[in-house]
Amino acid sequence: MRISSSQMFRNFSKWCLGTISAVFIAGTFHANAQGDALFKAKCASCHQTHKDGTGPKLFQVRTKWADGGAKDGSIYQWVNNWQAAAASDPYAQTVTTYSGAAMQQFPELKKEDIDAILDWVDAQPDPAAAAEGGAEGAASPTTTAVEEESSNGWVWIILGVIFAVVIGAVSGVRRQLKSAMADSVGDADNGTYTQEFKTWAWKNRKYVGLTSLVVVIALIVSSFLGLYSIGVVEEYHPSQPIQFPHAVHAGTNKIDCKYCHNTVTESRTAGIPSVNVCMNCHKQVNGRTPEQQEQIAKIYEAAGYIPEGAGKYTGKTKPIVWNKVHVLPDHVYFNHSQHVVVGGLDCKQCHGDMTKQVETQKVWPIQELNKIEGNIVLTKPTLTMGWCIECHAEKEISTGSIDTKNDGYYNEIHKRLLKHGKSLYGKYLEDGKVTVKELGGWECAKCHY
Ligand code: HEC
Ligand code: HEC
Ligand code: HEC
Ligand code: HEC
Ligand code: HEC
Ligand code: HEC
Repeated sequence: MRISSSQMFRNFSKWCLGTISAVFIAGTFHANAQGDALFKAKCASCHQTHKDGTGPKLFQVRTKWADGGAKDGSIYQWVNNWQAAAASDPYAQTVTTYSGAAMQQFPELKKEDIDAILDWVDAQPDPAAAAEGGAEGAASPTTTAVEEESSNGWVWIILGVIFAVVIGAVSGVRRQLKSAMADSVGDADNGTYTQEFKTWAWKNRKYVGLTSLVVVIALIVSSFLGLYSIGVVEEYHPSQPIQFPHAVHAGTNKIDCKYCHNTVTESRTAGIPSVNVCMNCHKQVNGRTPEQQEQIAKIYEAAGYIPEGAGKYTGKTKPIVWNKVHVLPDHVYFNHSQHVVVGGLDCKQCHGDMTKQVETQKVWPIQELNKIEGNIVLTKPTLTMGWCIECHAEKEISTGSIDTKNDGYYNEIHKRLLKHGKSLYGKYLEDGKVTVKELGGWECAKCHY
């Protein structure tokens, strides 16, 4: 009987240990990965850690700014909005002379995010120095990296300590059992402090057990919730065959979305442009930097085009296989023209501000979508059923006339609703608004096959 319960405790403490290690590893991994991921997602298109490119190298840039006499915190303002920083800090103003290229704005990045990025950058070894035998890079210590990293980490440390205590107690209990058995054989109790603690823990085993159970469950639940809120879909960012930047096309060059996604107002799908659409411009535009040329060469390869000399088509084409970014399950029906034309929604409501998307497209998390001016604020993660439903309950149907090939049906409904308005439909309208929901936007069959 005693042996079996001690066995049970041993298994329990092993299990606890496993859970802690898993949670710890996940926690540390997360803290380290953040700066890395943010840098690659947002900065790497223009910046390298140790080499100047479109933007200057970022290694130890905080120290550089501090030494150069920049105002406190102005480097963070720079990343959020470089124009504002340049206007308010003379040092930041000098930075703008680096090149004709301008830095992108990142209003969504918090100070912690920027520190995480720059910590990560500062922790990178200098590849050139490494090749030369560490002549220069080794001389630069990464002091800031260590202290700031813990801003997230201390939670894990505290949890770890709590766990260590609990495990100590649990394993103490096991030893207590053993020594109780030994006692009966005649061994003396050595009465140390730890022994006292173990006795205490054993006496209060119900509470100790219960507390540890609660902590374990809370941790498991919170890590699951964490996983859920990060979302398998939100921030989904598949790799693409060509590093196509929306910022250059829809932003800098102000090309209309419909030029490339040309079925978006007429059909279910928006469509991804064929290589011929790219060639309309890229027959002439072959890129200025080697990086651009490398990417644009892939368009030529796909189109079977040889740009040398007068330029000619070989006839040997091969499709560019873009990976789908926004993916709904097969059992869901979603229609673009319904939302863009009938509903009068802007693309950025669901896809984010593409004019600032330097990397290839990703699924924007709802928090980022909510920050965009003019967007309806929603709470459920992007592309989930909750997201669709919530907006249908929020968005009032547009009342203007609709101008498409198939506008008769909706124009008719809208007209009737407007004409009779609340008097006729009032009792169906809980909140006095005619939302998509009232039109049937909550009916399962509207969205599900
Ligand atoms: C679209 C290109 C682009 C992107 C993306 C970009 N930057 Fe920049 N960045 C620049 C350019 C260009 C400069 C130089 C200033 C100028 O010419 O206006 C610069 C300057 C800087 C500076 C000052 C460097 C110095 O030597 O003083 C910092 C710090 C900086 N960027 C941080 C970031 C961070 C952090 C990110 C990612 C969140 C980022 N940048 C993304 C283009 C970019
Ligand atoms: C020059 C052509 C071009 C223009 C202009 C353009 N796009 Fe795109 N778009 C593409 C290409 C190519 C892809 C596939 C690569 C990628 O995912 O980044 C794409 C992908 C997308 C995706 C993700 C597709 C998926 O698989 O889920 C969205 C959303 C999108 N574009 C929205 C927009 C919006 C909104 C605008 C206008 C502000 C716009 N695009 C303007 C060419 C263009
Ligand atoms: C309406 C004209 C137009 C169309 C259509 C167009 N592009 Fe571009 N693209 C440009 C311009 C302008 C630039 C900027 C070149 C520069 O900065 O010198 C550019 C730049 C690029 C770059 C390099 C960007 C960088 O800075 O890294 C890539 C890659 C690219 N385009 C891919 C595509 C692809 C793929 C398509 C088709 C889906 C496409 N483009 C369609 C006009 C166009
Ligand atoms: C109400 C939200 C919403 C709005 C507004 C919206 N989209 Fe989408 N978009 C989606 C969803 C959801 C998908 C995924 C569809 C699927 O997998 O069937 C998608 C997919 C796409 C795709 C991938 C290719 C395709 O056809 O499925 C492109 C490109 C795209 N959207 C472009 C646009 C453009 C351009 C606009 C603005 C004119 C726009 N979207 C407006 C929700 C929206
Ligand atoms: C940002 C708000 C918004 C989001 C998000 C959204 N919708 Fe809609 N939806 C609308 C609007 C607006 C209409 C058009 C209502 C009208 O007829 O004026 C609409 C209409 C519809 C309709 C037609 C309803 C009817 O009664 O005819 C369907 C089906 C639909 N949406 C499916 C979806 C699905 C599936 C998603 C999620 C993948 C989604 N919607 C996400 C706003 C949204
Ligand atoms: C406005 C559009 C919309 C309406 C209305 C709607 N759904 Fe959904 N539903 C979705 C979308 C989008 C998904 C896919 C979500 C995802 O992949 O996370 C989904 C997923 C589901 C799933 C599968 C969940 C899964 O794990 O894949 C079920 C079951 C479901 N819906 C049932 C219903 C029922 C029952 C109703 C009616 C009471 C309903 N839906 C009404 C949009 C809708």
